[in-house]
Amino acid sequence: MAAAQLLSLSGVSKEFPGVKALNNVHFDLNKGEVHALVGENGAGKSTLMKILSGIYKKDTGEITYLGKHVDVNSPIEAHHLGISIIHQELNLMPHLTVAENIFIGREDRLKVRPFLNKTRQNMAAAELLAELSLKLDPKTLVGDLTIAKQQMVEIAKSVSYRGEVIIMDEPTSSLTPAETESLFEIIRTLKAAGKGVVYISHRLEELEQISDRITVIRDGEYVKTLITKETNIPEVISLMVGRKVDQDQRPELRSQNSDVVLKVEGISTRNLLKDVSFELKRGEILGFAGLMGSGRTELARALIGADPKTAGKVFLKGEEVKIKSPSDAVKSGIGYLSEDRKRFGLLLIQNVTFNVILASIPGFTRFGFVKSGPAAGITRDAIAQLKIRTPSEKQLVKNLSGGNQQKVVIAKWLTRNCDILIFDEPTRGIDVGAKDEIYKLLTKLASEGKSIIMISSELPEVLRMSDRVAVMCEGRLTGIINNKDADQHTIMQYATKYRD
Ligand SMILES: Nc1ncnc2c1ncn2[C@@H]1O[C@H](COP(=O)(O)OP(=O)(O)OP(=O)(O)O)[C@@H](O)[C@H]1O
Ligand SMILES: [Mg+2]
Repeated sequence: MAAAQLLSLSGVSKEFPGVKALNNVHFDLNKGEVHALVGENGAGKSTLMKILSGIYKKDTGEITYLGKHVDVNSPIEAHHLGISIIHQELNLMPHLTVAENIFIGREDRLKVRPFLNKTRQNMAAAELLAELSLKLDPKTLVGDLTIAKQQMVEIAKSVSYRGEVIIMDEPTSSLTPAETESLFEIIRTLKAAGKGVVYISHRLEELEQISDRITVIRDGEYVKTLITKETNIPEVISLMVGRKVDQDQRPELRSQNSDVVLKVEGISTRNLLKDVSFELKRGEILGFAGLMGSGRTELARALIGADPKTAGKVFLKGEEVKIKSPSDAVKSGIGYLSEDRKRFGLLLIQNVTFNVILASIPGFTRFGFVKSGPAAGITRDAIAQLKIRTPSEKQLVKNLSGGNQQKVVIAKWLTRNCDILIFDEPTRGIDVGAKDEIYKLLTKLASEGKSIIMISSELPEVLRMSDRVAVMCEGRLTGIINNKDADQHTIMQYATKYRD
C-alpha cells in the first residue's frame, strides 16, 4: 500500500540577489514519515523549508498539501494549514518566559482576564512540557537558558501548534546524546500519530536512527531521494559533496616542543568551576571533552575574563597575567570562538568583511576609518580558504546559511592572528566536507606554532583532532589523556566520574 502523501513541493526555484539558492527542487512527505533533507552548507535546505513555512516566497514551483494546490504566503497561513517549523537560528524572545515564548501571538486563545491569563498560560505550558518529558520551568526567562534548553522550547512551541507537518532545521546541533534521544522519542510519538516530520541535520549518523527517507540537495539542485534502509552514510556523503570524505582519520602527530604557553592554576568560579589546572603547549591541540554542563564553556569564559574567577592564576609564557575582560584576553593574544555565534560571535546586520575584521579592527583602521582595500582583500582570502558560500564579501552575514555564518566566526579569529585560540564547538552546524576543511586548518595552525583549545561534544572529533584530551565533569577537570591512550570509553569514564 502506498503511503498517504501529506505534501509535495515540485519545481521550486528561488533566487536571492547574486545567489541561485534553489533550482527546480522536488521534495515530498508522507503521513507518519520522517523525511530527512541533507546537503552541504548553503545547499538550500533552510531556504526550501522557509518557502514551505511561508517565510520566503518561491519564484517558481508548486506546493500540494493534502491533495490540493496551496499558496503559503505567510507563517500564519502555514500555521493555519498545519505546518510549523523549528528554526535553525533560534527565534525566541530572551526577555519573555518559556511559557510566553511557546504561546506568543496566541495569548488570546487562553481566554480569561489578562491577570489570570498568565497562570493559565503557565499551566498549559507545564502540561505540554510534561507531555514531551522536557524538564523546563514555564516561568524561566528564555534569555537565562542554555542554547540546548532554548532548543527544547522551540521544539515544544512547534508541537504546540498541533499541526500535521513539523519541520526541524538542525534541532540537535546543540543537544547532548541524551537530549537527542528524548527528541527522537518525541519524533516517534509524532510519527505514530500520523504526522510528517522534515528533519535537517549535519549529524548524518542520526539519519539512520530516525529517518525513513533521505533527500539530498547540492548547490540548490535536487540530487536524489533514498530510502534510509537501503543506503548508508558514505553513499549519502558522496551524493552531498560529490567526493569521498574520510571520517575517522587520526591526526598526524605533530612534532611538539614542550614550551608551555599557557598555564592555568586552580581556577574556580562561584557557580561551577572547582580548582581547574592544566597546561597548554606550543603547537598543541588540547581537546576538552565532557557532558553538557560539565564546565568547559565556563572555563573558557573565566579564562578570557568574560566571567569572574573566585580563585586561580593564569600564566602566559611563565608570567602571570590578570585577564579581567575579553578585550584583555585579545590583547594577551587569546582568541575565543564562542559556541553561541549569534549572541557573541557576529554582528548579523553587518557584512562579511566587517565581521572578519571585527576582532582586529585597530589593524585595519586609519584615523578611525576602516581601510577598505586591505580589509576586503583579507576577507576574500578567508572566503576562498574556508570556502564560505557568499556572492561577495559585501553580503550581510544574516543572509548567509547557518554553516557559513560559523565559518565567518572562524575567519574572524584567524584574521586576528592570536597565539592561543579557544574554539568552542567549532564545527557546530558545519557540513561533513567543510568539517574536514576546518580540521585541516586547525592542524595547520597548530603546526605553525599556534596553541589550540578545542571544546567539542563530538567525541570522534575530539579523538581525531587532539594531541591530548582534557575531560571535565561537574566543574572539575577529571583527567588529561594522551591521544594514543584516548578512546570513547575512557573519555566517558572521566566525563561521568562524579555522576551516578
Ligand atoms: N535572505 C537571504 N538573502 C540572500 N541570500 C540568502 C538568503 N537566505 C539564504 N541565502 C543564500 O541562499 C543559499 C542557501 O542558503 P540556506 O540557508 O538555504 O542553506 P542551508 O542548506 O540551510 O545551509 P546550512 O547547512 O549552512 O544551514 C546560501 O548561499 C545563502 O547565502
Ligand atoms: Mg540551514
